[in-house]
This record gives sequence, C-alpha cells and structure tokens, in this order.
Amino acid sequence: DKISVIGVPMDLGADRRGVDMGPSAIRYAGIAKKLERLGFDLKDTGNINVPQPEMYVEAGKYKYLEQVVKANEQLAEAVSKEIGDGRFPLVLGGDHSIAIGTIAGVAKHVQNLGVIWFDAHGDLNTGETSPSGNIHGMSLAACLGYGHERLVSLGGFFPKLKPENIVIIGARDLDPGERALIKEIGLNVYTMHEIDKLGMARVMEEAIKQVSRETDGVHLSLDLDGLDPHDAPGVGTPVIGGISYRESHLALEILAEADVLVSAEFVEVNPILDRENATAQVAVELIGSAFGEKLL
Ligand code: ARG
Ligand code: MN
Ligand code: MN
Ligand code: MN
Repeated sequence: DKISVIGVPMDLGADRRGVDMGPSAIRYAGIAKKLERLGFDLKDTGNINVPQPEMYVEAGKYKYLEQVVKANEQLAEAVSKEIGDGRFPLVLGGDHSIAIGTIAGVAKHVQNLGVIWFDAHGDLNTGETSPSGNIHGMSLAACLGYGHERLVSLGGFFPKLKPENIVIIGARDLDPGERALIKEIGLNVYTMHEIDKLGMARVMEEAIKQVSRETDGVHLSLDLDGLDPHDAPGVGTPVIGGISYRESHLALEILAEADVLVSAEFVEVNPILDRENATAQVAVELIGSAFGEKLL
C-alpha cells in the first residue's frame, strides 16, 4: 500500500503559535521509519504553504478567514492529487481547521464519506456561536454545511458530509451552540460518559458500523486533545478527563482491523507546550496502530 504524508503547518485556525510546528515534530518523532517498517511505500510530499499570523492583524468572528481558506484550498488539491495517484493521504497538522481542506479533497473522490472525529471538542461552532473566533473550533460544522460560506463551499461543493455518517468520540467540552446543533441534526456523539460506561471496544464497534454502513470509505480525523492531557500534554486546548493512551491505541487497532479507512489526519500537536516531544511521539505510535501495527 502507498501512503503520502502531507504536512500542514497551520496555526491560523487556533490563533496560537506552536501547532504550526506539529508536522515537523511528528516527522522528527519518526513517522517515516514507523510506516516503512510496517511495509508501506511512503512518500513525503512536504508542507502546504501557510502564511505567518504576524503578517496580518486579525479579529472578528472568523479569524484569518482568508488565509485559512487559501491554505485549505491548497490542501484539498494536494489530498485530491494523492488519492488520484492511488495513494492514501496522511495529513499532519497543524490546527484542526485543516480538516476542511482534507475532507474537501477526500470527498471529491468518495461519494459518501464516513468520518470518525476523535476529539475533546465538537468543532461544531459557527462564527455566531464560537466563543473564540478560532476556525479550528468550526471545521466539522463547515463540512456539514454550517458557518461561513467560504468555509462551507471550500473545494466548490457542499455539504461534504451527512450527519448520519459521522461519529464524534471523546467529547467532553462542548459550547452551547454546539450542543444545540448536535441535537438539531441528530449527530451521534460518544462522550467520555459513553466511553466509560460501554468501554472503548464497544464504542468503536458501534462507531465503525455506523460510519461504514452507507458510505464508500471512512476518514479518521484525530485531534490529539481527544487524549487525556496526561498522555498528550502538547496541545493548545487541553481538557482533563480524556481518552487514555491504552484506549486510544485500542480504538485505532479496532479501526485498522475493520479496514475501512481511505484517509487520515492527526492534528493539534503543539511542540511548544509539549514535554520532550511526547505528544508527537504518541501521534506516531497511534499512526502505527491505525495502519495495522500489532505486537504479535
Ligand atoms: N470550542 C472551542 C472554540 O470553539 C475550542 C475548540 C477547540 N478545537 C480544537 N480543534 N482544538 O474555540
Ligand atoms: Mn479538540
Ligand atoms: Mn478538534
Ligand atoms: Mn487548539
């Protein structure tokens, strides 16, 4: 199998310096060696060009909208090209606003796309409901057709996703507008409550069944802040009470066994806030599990 790594040094969607170094940190932690050992034909396509936040003065309901849109358009192109070449796009963030570009690129090739959104947050805000104006908290909403027109129609079509083909796993910090949207559209959210009650194995089995039932492929969008900050301290918006190191590996091992993924992204690694690159290291280990790594 062929994998293409695409780095996106994006922090404009989080209004915080540091996540832009995520792709370097994950490469430094040994992603290439990991995937080559697993037997994959790996190509690193380099990074998408993302401008520096210092080049702009920004405020408002959609911070750095123009720049976030431009970078995501390039990302969508890059993802689409790799898929067109028969390669699996593995996108390294960067803040979670890049899911808009990744999913735009994948959805061009996959009619009905399922998504597993692994996150402490819903990323279901719009400019109207966001407490921060940060677009990384709006990316899933945009893929569903909610929010600024530039984000919603990125890549030239919308909506990219249907609510019934999405699950969120690990949520424990939702804003009021996000809760309202979840109820309105009937989105299936496995909060920490369900994970604790049912166990991660059952949650993943149900989730995979749902997102692969009427779809032609599944995208994994994994925000490292879905993990507990104890195991993944290098993230910009940590929330206590998260998914453990062990549970996250189990989740991705079960996902690998199901063999449904067509694309994946690992986002929100912030080396500035990290302890000796521990979070990028965890990301690389999780990528191993997602691509079928097993002890025996
Ligand atoms: N809900 C908060 C906001 O809208 C935090 C979002 C965090 N998102 C993320 N991708 N880390 O600003
Ligand atoms: Mn998050
Ligand atoms: Mn997120
Ligand atoms: Mn963040």
